[in-house]
Amino acid sequence: MKKPVIAIDGYSSTGKSSISKVIADKLDLIHLDTGALYRGVTWFALQHCADENGSINLDQLFSSLGQIELEFKNDEGELVLYLNHADISKQIRSNEVSDNVSLVAKQKEVRDFLLQSQRSLAEKGGIIMDGRDIGTVVLPNADFKFFLTASIDERTKRRYNELLSLGIEADEQQVKENLIERDKIDSEREIAPLKKADDAIVIDNTHLTKKETIEVMLSYIVKI
Ligand code: C5P
Repeated sequence: MKKPVIAIDGYSSTGKSSISKVIADKLDLIHLDTGALYRGVTWFALQHCADENGSINLDQLFSSLGQIELEFKNDEGELVLYLNHADISKQIRSNEVSDNVSLVAKQKEVRDFLLQSQRSLAEKGGIIMDGRDIGTVVLPNADFKFFLTASIDERTKRRYNELLSLGIEADEQQVKENLIERDKIDSEREIAPLKKADDAIVIDNTHLTKKETIEVMLSYIVKI
């Protein structure tokens, strides 16, 4: 039997990636965190296409996209993102990347650059992919589509704790502002905006634990 293709979209810090990882383990699927890809391109841009103030030159980035090789490797059960063979899994979570990623991700050149590799990974089935446009653009024919949401205060708390656990300094108010700003840019952009697919199941997990959210999702997946 062909394994399912599952699309998970939603607002920042709703737990999409960590939830997808658990479901992938349970159902023996590949997991692709597409946000990490956009973060990887942003990290590259900050290193190679930015001025001394950290302002990214987009034209320079567009002409450098061919130099970017992003690859996930499995390191003791954790998927680690490599950019041109260097581990960048910590760098992509930095505040610098979070502050710039939505600007980079709204560019057509960048989205086109990442689209095909996301699609080809899903060709054989057996994948759970999380992001902002998976159910609407990347995998419109996915077998299951979920759209996760939660209150801004709950999401702020989650991102803040995640940053602390990674040893990254954070200010709760700034974290909140970054989430609001990214969601706004992501939802209002012209190409592949963040939005619920018509056939997606919406889950508000403000008052659900990660485990409870997973149980709800699995109840849909197992039912069919
Ligand atoms: O999922 P995460 O918060 O790491 O994503 C970082 C950013 O990458 C998002 O705020 C969005 O700008 C961009 N993104 C996107 N499309 C996706 C996944 C992420 O535009 N499929």
